[in-house]
Order: sequence, then structure tokens, then C-alpha cells
Amino acid sequence: MTDTSLAPAPAATPDARPAVREIGIIMNGVSGRMGYRQHLVRSILAIRDQGGIELPDGTRVTVKPILVGRSEAKLAELAAKHGIEDYTADLDAALADPRWEIYADFLVTKARSSALRKAIAAGKTIYTEKPTAETAAEALELANLAAAAGVKTGVVHDKLYLPGLQKLKRLIESGFFGRILSVRGEFGYWVFEGDWQPAQRPSWNYRVEDGGGIIVDMFPHWNYVLENLFGKVETVYAQASTHIPTRWDENGEPYAATAEDAAYGVFELDGGPENGPIVAQINSSWTVRVNRDELVEFHVDGTHGSAVVGLFGAKIQHRNATPKPVWNPDLADDHDYDADWAELPVNDVFQNGFRQQWEEFLVSYVEGTPYEFDLLSGARGVLLAEAGLESSREGRKVALRTLTLE
Ligand SMILES: NC(=O)c1ccc[n+]([C@@H]2O[C@H](COP(=O)([O-])OP(=O)(O)OC[C@H]3O[C@@H](n4cnc5c(N)ncnc54)[C@H](O)[C@@H]3O)[C@@H](O)[C@H]2O)c1
Repeated sequence: MTDTSLAPAPAATPDARPAVREIGIIMNGVSGRMGYRQHLVRSILAIRDQGGIELPDGTRVTVKPILVGRSEAKLAELAAKHGIEDYTADLDAALADPRWEIYADFLVTKARSSALRKAIAAGKTIYTEKPTAETAAEALELANLAAAAGVKTGVVHDKLYLPGLQKLKRLIESGFFGRILSVRGEFGYWVFEGDWQPAQRPSWNYRVEDGGGIIVDMFPHWNYVLENLFGKVETVYAQASTHIPTRWDENGEPYAATAEDAAYGVFELDGGPENGPIVAQINSSWTVRVNRDELVEFHVDGTHGSAVVGLFGAKIQHRNATPKPVWNPDLADDHDYDADWAELPVNDVFQNGFRQQWEEFLVSYVEGTPYEFDLLSGARGVLLAEAGLESSREGRKVALRTLTLE
């Protein structure tokens, strides 16, 4: 027998070279906050600049964006800045062009559903920001239209990719918590009113007539976070408040803030037959000053352990490390409760969550595998927002119906 282990590798033939599959992506709304920073720069251009994504069979998937928006001058500037060849203010023309396979949408929420309808009708694969529509009926209709047209869909579920939430997922899967009892989420920060300091969010966020409001903005996130980590959301009770009724817009003009800037929600979750029901409380607020380690934190209590996770960090307390406080208002308590928690080590390299999800979606698209974060999942998020608003209006707990495709 001849030992071939030291023999030189056979010269690569042209046939053995991995195939390259270039995917054209219509990026609509790239001049916006999310469209530019997270989707164009941090995701698609980052994937382009690293030479694409390699599939297990050696195929290289590369991306080619076309920038779409209302102002051709703005698009031309962005295209030149980032070395992008294609841009247009004519969405219909881009949709009619078979070079572009995926339609990606980062428009203001109000403009989304009409654009998605056109893209579905054109047979494009869809990738979109949340919320997918302004009403649950419309969001479900879009999911049905896409299913009927046989187009694949993906909806941004970025919070699931946060390092802190990935660590939480691992804790849950390891059985660390025992039976999970409750989740307390605290999200928010102070958004300036816009008069003496410019606001750090767009003014449409504070006008209900323009698709604004923190419930429509955040409840779609809470829905996929809760259902993917803990269980389906069964009911919601929410209190929506507009704490600051007047704000100042991008031009320094005062306007009436008609949408809520804070929401205090209680959600009942179906934790499954083994775990049983879980109660989640999540405060979402643009009118709170941060006294936490991170802008979002979830505190999870289980029979065997608890965890507090943020965007990045995660700390745990096992039942064996749990102190036994005794309530005594007459004595100052000098126990250092913070010291009872252990920070989890960072054992993984996490990349930007938007990019991670884009990569997974592109791989699923090329390989034709099912993709669970689709327009139906997006519709469940819109339903939770709608039910939250209904609960607040009517002052009662609202049960969520199950959405299914026709
Ligand atoms: N996943 C997340 O964490 C996250 C965070 C913030 C916002 N969002 C979502 O992303 C979307 C965009 O939010 P943003 O903060 O980037 O807003 P933005 O105002 O910064 O950008 C909106 C974009 O839509 C375009 N646009 C505005 N009005 C339009 C119209 N009538 N027709 C067509 N285009 C129009 C603007 O030119 C801009 O490109 C929203 O749906 C929002 O809910 C998601």
C-alpha cells in the first residue's frame, strides 16, 4: 500500500472550483435609520465585503444590492459612498427586473404593506422589517398572499440574536431554571422631547396617524422573543400611556404626540405541558431614565435558578446561591445582593444580529429550506400589538386568537 498522505494535492480543475451564486437584492428605504445602518452597512455590505457566505458544499453566495427610495439624489450619494452600481427611485421597474430576486423593506411602517403587496405580486422573495403591517388582518392577508404566490418570506427577529438572549436560550435549553415561573422585562431610555435637545428617534414614532407608538414598535419584538424562548403568548393586559403630549420634530416644530410613549404589559404564556403557564411583565418606555446595566433587561425566575440578561450580559443565581432575606424595615440591610449573581462567561463569538439573520435567511433561500421567522410569525407580532392597544383602550385582558394560513 502506498502512503499518499504526503503527496501533493491534485491541481484544482475549473470544475472543482466552488460555484458562485449572486443574489440581487432590492433594498427599499435604505436612507432610513434601520435601512442604512443595520441592513445596508452592517449586513449586506458586510456580507459583500467579506466575499459572501460559503455553503457546506462550497458554493459561495454573494449579494448585489440595488438601492431604492424616493430621492434619487440621496440614493446616488449612498451608492457612490459605498461602491454600489445600482440605484433607482422607480420601485416598479426594479420589481419587474428579474436580476433582483429578493425584495427587502425598511420603509416607515405605514408605507410597508402596499410595497410588500407589489413585491409579492412580482413573485419576489420577501425580507422585511417589523411590524409587517398596521393591522393583524392585513399582516395575515400578506402572509396568505405570499403563501398563495409561493414566495419565501422572512421578517426581522433581531432581538433573538442578541448575545444576552442567546445566552438565555442556552440556559433554558440546559434546564438551568427548573420550572420557569416568570419573566420581567425592562426596555427603554429617555428620548429627548426635541426642543432643548434634538430627539434621537424620528418624530413619526410619536404620531399614531403616521404608524407610531411604542406598542406597535415593541410588541412585535416581544411576541417573537416570548414565543421562541418561553411559549406562545395567550393573553395580554396592557396600559398604554402618552406621558409627554408635545414633542418637537426634525425641523424644530412642535407637534402633538398622539401615540403612546410607554406601555406596561402583562402577558400570560403557554410554557408547555412540562413547564406550565409563565407570566411575563414587560415595561416598554421612551420616557424612563436608565438605572440598569443595559437598555433592555429580562429577569427570569425559575424554581432552580434565576437569570438577568441584557443585550450582551447575562448573570445567574442558582438555588444553592440564593440568600434568605428576612423582611425587617427597622434594620438597614447591608447584604450585597448584587454579589450573589455570577456573570456568564462569553464562550461564543457573536456577530451583529441583523447580519446573522440575513445570512441565515440567504442560506435558507438558496438551499430551499423552511424558514420559520416568516410573514405568519410577523403577523402574530402585529396581532399582539393590536391586542395590547385594545386591552389598553378597554381596560381588560385580551386573549389572542391563533393565526393560521388559509
Ligand atoms: N428591528 C428593529 O429593531 C427596528 C428598530 C427601529 C425601527 N424598526 C422598523 O424599521 C422601519 C423603519 O424605521 P426607521 O427608524 O429606520 O425609520 P426612518 O424614518 O429612519 O426611515 C424610514 C424610511 O422610509 C422612507 N419613507 C418614509 N416615508 C415614506 C413613504 N411615505 N413612502 C415610502 N418611503 C417612505 C424614508 O425615506 C426612510 O428611508 C419601521 O417599520 C420600524 O418599525 C425596526
